[in-house]
Formats: sequence, structure tokens, C-alpha cells
Amino acid sequence: MKLFSSVKDVNDIKAIVQKALILKSNPFAYQELGKNKTLGLVFLNPSLRTRLSTQKAALNLGMNVIVMNMDKEGWALETQDGVVMNGSSAEHIREAAAVMGQYCDILGLRCFPKLQNQEEDYSEELFNKFVAFSNVPVISLESATLHPLQSLADLITIEEYRKVAKPKVVLTWAPHVKPLPQAVANSFAEWMSKAQQENLVDFVITHPEGYELAERFTSRTRVTHNQNEALQNADFVYVKNWSSYTHYGKILTDDKGWMLNNKKLEITNQAKVMHCLPVRRDLELASELLDGPNSVVIQQAGNRVWAAQAILKQILES
Ligand code: CP
Repeated sequence: MKLFSSVKDVNDIKAIVQKALILKSNPFAYQELGKNKTLGLVFLNPSLRTRLSTQKAALNLGMNVIVMNMDKEGWALETQDGVVMNGSSAEHIREAAAVMGQYCDILGLRCFPKLQNQEEDYSEELFNKFVAFSNVPVISLESATLHPLQSLADLITIEEYRKVAKPKVVLTWAPHVKPLPQAVANSFAEWMSKAQQENLVDFVITHPEGYELAERFTSRTRVTHNQNEALQNADFVYVKNWSSYTHYGKILTDDKGWMLNNKKLEITNQAKVMHCLPVRRDLELASELLDGPNSVVIQQAGNRVWAAQAILKQILES
């Protein structure tokens, strides 16, 4: 494996989940694998879970880790080719990525979308150029459109908590005060769609009108604007806000009726409640649920370590 940016980079999702669970049961079994290897984590945006869990995963494998907060500590990057760099950008991504590749055996990059231009964000220009110029394997720590380490951790969590062979998994939109990227929702839809193809889950998405995700992630998925209908008999409910894809980056509604609470949980099959975090309490998700027995959000965040460790291990072995 030389690149981890999407479910498409994984040959067998069932196998990678099992490998992650084996690492969870024996975290230090491969301490020699990463000896004298360096992981570089490059952040253009804030992070708690991705930063700490990926560092922890690398340390478990015996790797050294360097973290670069590019947005605060690095030179402002130019991504366009053929421009005279007489503006605020001090360094071109061609040199910056190539230099980081000299210092690290594997690189991870977090880069959010600007949410101003759909075509620009969905071209993943920054991430793709980083991959092209760094000359080492690259892991997405969340790109403009996808968050694959999160989705792998989500699938691990579903495998751990499922009570039936093929659980019903619902992704529901939730209100928010800020326009957020579609990356977590796109990625979850992509991974669940693959899991559905392999008969591992029954997957449904529910959101208000105007919040349709890009078709490439949802073409094989049932989508309904009726949240109560979607929640019927759900075994897992994944709560997440995203801004509109079609009315790009816009907030179209703040309908508080979409917030999941104990009353709505009654419609489900005592569903486990998931969220990638950070979560805005009593805006996106009711405190009564976050603090209640059905929430697995902390365990889900814990599984970020095993997701990252499984991917790093696979890259080190190849
Ligand atoms: N879920 C997630 O990626 O969290 P962070 O933004 O804190 O890394």
C-alpha cells in the first residue's frame, strides 16, 4: 500500500477490520516493524483525535513521529503551477512536499476544503499534489472530500458492537451553526456502500432536502428525507452535520427537529449512537444521548488508533 485516501485503496475491508482488532488485542506485537522509520504528520487544520491517535498508532509500531502544524508554523503554500509567486505564498507545494518526503518514510496530510468552489474542492488538488511531489507513501488525515481513517474506525466500531449479522446503519444529518465539510459523510457513505455490497450492513442515509451528497458516494444507497422512517429498526445511528453539496457550502436549514434525542432513539432497535467528534452538545446531538448507555462515541474515537495502526502496518510491510 502506497496511498490511503479512500476505501478504494483497501483490497478487503472485512480483512482490514479484523487486522485492526488483532492489533487492538496486542498493540505492541510489531514494535520492530517501524524501528528507525519516521512518520510525518502535516496539519493545515486543527485536530485532536486524528493527531493523537495516529501518533499513538505509529509509536505502537516503534516509529518516530514528527508533527508539523503547517497552518501555524509553516510557510504559506502555493499550490498553482505557472504563477509568479509575488503574493503572500512563500513556498510552492512542489518543494515543500518533496522536502518533507526527504525527512519521512510515510507522510500524513490533513487539508480541509474552503467550501467556496465545489469543483476546486472536489478536485483534491492540494492532497493530490502533496502525494505526487512527496515521493513517499501518503495517508489522508482528512482531505477536502474524504476522511478514510475515521470511516475505518467507524467500521471497526460497528463490527465490535453489532448484535446481528447484518445491522441496519443509518447516517442522519444534524443541525449546526457553521458550514462544515461533507468529508466525513462522503467517506462514511463510501465505506458503508462497500460494506453493503459485501452484505455486511443495510445502509440508509437521511437528510433534509438540499443536502444530497455527491452521487459518486451514494449511487447505491437508499436516501430519504423522512428521518423517522429511516430510524425504524436501526441498529446504529451515525449523526453528522454537513453543508450543502448542491448549494455548495451553504446552510439551508437549522431545523432543530433533526437533532437526535432519546425520543427519536425509541424508534430504533435500541441503536448505538455514533459521531466522529468533535460534537456540539444539544445542537447536533442531545446530551442525554451522549451521556447515556447507547452512545459509543468515545469507543469510536478510541478505535481511531487501531484504524491508523492497521494502515501504517500495511504500508510498512509493503
Ligand atoms: N474526528 C476527527 O477527525 O477528529 P479531529 O478533527 O479532532 O481529528
